[in-house]
This record gives sequence, structure tokens and C-alpha cells, in this order.
Amino acid sequence: MKPVKVGVLGLGTVGGGTVNVLKRNAAEIARRAGREITITRASVKDLDKLRICDTQGIILTTDPMDIINDPDIDIVVELIGGAGLVKELVLKAISNGKHVVTANKSLIALHGNEIFAKASEKGVIVAFEAAVAGGIPIIKAIREGLSGNQIEWLAGIINGTGNFILTEMRDKGRDFNDVLAEAQALGYAEADPTFDVEGIDAGHKLTILASIAFGIPLQFDKVYTEGITGITRLDVEYAEQLGYRIKHLGIARKMPNGIELRVHPTLIPERRLIANVNGVMNAVVVKGDAVGPSLYYGAGAGAEPTASAVVADLIDVARALTSDPENRVPHLAFQADALVDIPVLPAAQFRTAYYLRLNAEDKPGALADVTRILADHHISIEAIIQREPAGDATAIPIILLTEITLEHEMNAAITKIEALKTVTGKVNRIRLETLR
Ligand code: HSE
Repeated sequence: MKPVKVGVLGLGTVGGGTVNVLKRNAAEIARRAGREITITRASVKDLDKLRICDTQGIILTTDPMDIINDPDIDIVVELIGGAGLVKELVLKAISNGKHVVTANKSLIALHGNEIFAKASEKGVIVAFEAAVAGGIPIIKAIREGLSGNQIEWLAGIINGTGNFILTEMRDKGRDFNDVLAEAQALGYAEADPTFDVEGIDAGHKLTILASIAFGIPLQFDKVYTEGITGITRLDVEYAEQLGYRIKHLGIARKMPNGIELRVHPTLIPERRLIANVNGVMNAVVVKGDAVGPSLYYGAGAGAEPTASAVVADLIDVARALTSDPENRVPHLAFQADALVDIPVLPAAQFRTAYYLRLNAEDKPGALADVTRILADHHISIEAIIQREPAGDATAIPIILLTEITLEHEMNAAITKIEALKTVTGKVNRIRLETLR
């Protein structure tokens, strides 16, 4: 059978890794796909730049349209990233009847509904395993491996840079910016690193996971995102004393009245496997009604781990080239006409437990005032730590863990606690999930 011809847009970290994996494992890949998969063309920004891959046998161009309009190309691999011009390139490739493989989470999270509709119309595949959690085959696991289940919830560490920063801060007491710079140098961080630390990147990935888990359209604009920049060493230490770790989680949960989609720092019990996922590694726990909880762990970023997912998609597309479009695995796991518009809940309706840290005056009734306000809002206390004042300080740190409550009750309680004369400064609040 003649080789499948691939054109790659972008030969950066992931593009270079993809060339290397495809070349190194060519024989094994051909045995799996039933035919050779060959990169014949690639577009780059700068023809003279040094690359991590050997480009021998690949015709380079600076114009992606040379590839998109090449009638010999079967599959376009989009590894430029970003969602602006790239969307037009991908739509044009689809219009030209090309199958597309992409690692671009923002493209899929923001424009996936339109892209998949166009792909279905043209009978082509858009594959995006590398868009979520790098080398972990989490899309395939949920879309195919767990397709007999009703998915109840999933929770994941889906940004390697953020996890690397939290891990280094906890283990080595390193400074936030110093660790971020290292993640950038290692090629883990996004072009705009605020996407990593503010939860935008994780929000893109969560959007995709939620759609394939629940059969809902992609809707990034409804994801609640909160970053890790407010996490202090104090909170990390108190959390540890209480038996918890702080992780930046993406959580999607089906509730009776809608779906929670949220990315935020989260206390999780240290005995959970996912609490022990460190460095740049990613992990996702998926709870299905039949399988129970299952955990997927691996490298979430980097050249070859991400290339591993890109190449797996290329093999899938190569195998499906001769199948009827209607018999292929649907892009979002559910048939396109069977997607449902379950409401995504506003943050005020989230149900979660909390860690609260506040400073109160060291005098009778100060703690009672706080607990009374919580009781007035039907918030039950699970654990409490009160520390002695440090040195001459008159304020004492109070740390509380609460049971699950409605977020708007907690918001109202915090407003009242912060208004108490005996409480100084802001209440530091971090959500807590037991992931049972
Ligand atoms: N910036 C992302 C991360 C890269 O750190 O996880 C992989 O999507």
C-alpha cells in the first residue's frame, strides 16, 4: 500500500519530537498502521533555524498554504499553536479534504464545535489526543475505553508547568518566578505563561475532557478558572499538617442540576494517588458508574511525550482512511446529533468543601464569632487549628476545614467574617475535594 503522506505545520518542540519519533519507530509504526507514514513537507517560521530533528527528506517552506494546498498530502499536522490564524489554516485544510491532527488545546476548546462540524461535512477526521495531558492517552481512554460508562466526574492535574511550580515550591522552597523560568527553558510552558499559572491552559483541556465525558458542546467560556499565584508556603504547610496536598486541579462533575467545570487550587487528601503526582507529570482520575475510579498518569508536556500522542493519532487516521466517515469514532465521543445542552453551573452553585485561613485577635469570643457566622450559613466545620501568636503579634492564625457547602453560602460567610472587628485582613480560601 502506498505511504500516507503527512505535512507538518510548525517544527518547534512538538514538531521536532514528532519527526524524530516517526523516523525512529518507522518500522513498528508501519506494522501497526498497515502502511508507512511519511512526513514529506513541513512549514517553519525560519528556514535556517537549528532544529531538534533531522529534516532530511522533508521539503521545508515558510508558507503553510504550500502544504494545505498540496494535493499529495493526506494528513495535515498542526503544531503551530494558538487559535487565531491557525483556525483559518485548519478550516482550509479541512475544506481541501485533508485529515487534521493537532496538539492545539485552545483551538479545539474555542473553535472545536465549528471545526468538527466542518470536518463531518467534508468526511474528514480531526484528531487531538495531544491536546490534553501530553502523552497520556486520556482522550482515547474516555472516548473509547470507558464508552460503556456514565461518567460521573473527572479531576486532573492537566498543566505540567503549574504542577512543576507547586512541587518545587513545596519540596525545595523555591521562588515562583525562578521555577517558572526553568519550565519555560525546558519547553513546558505556554508562549504566554500566564495561561499556565492562571489556569487558562488547564481550562482549555478541561473543556475538551468534559465534552467527551458528558456529550456536551465545547464551551470554554463557561469554565471557572482560578490560578496558583495566591498560594503561599503557609497554606502548603498548614495543608500538610492537616493531611492534604495543594494541587491545581481541573474538575468536571455532573450534578443533578447541571455540570460544574472548574479549575482552581485544591486541597486533596495526601493518601490519594493523584496527590503524589509531582513535577511536570499529569494525571487524571475519571469516575465511571461501572468501572469506578480509574487513574491515568504520565508526562503532560515535552517533545517526545506529546509526539507520542500525535503519532498515535496519525496511526489512527491512517487506519481509518478507508472507513466510511459515519462509522468512525465521533470527534466528541457522542454522535454529533446526540450532544446535549446540559447547563454549566455558575460558580455560586458549586458544591465543595473549603480550607479557610484567617487572622483573628487573641481574645475571648474571636473564634466563636467566626464559627457562629459559618453556622448561620449552614456550614459545618470538619477540623480546626488555632496557633499561638508569633512573637509580639496580637493576631493568631486560625485554620478551618469545612464540610461540603454551596459556594454562595461560603461567599456570604466570608464577607461577614472579613467585616468582624476581631478579624484582620482577608480570609484565604482554598477549595477542598476528597475525590472519593
Ligand atoms: N504548557 C502546557 C503544560 C504544555 O505545562 O502542561 C502542555 O499542554
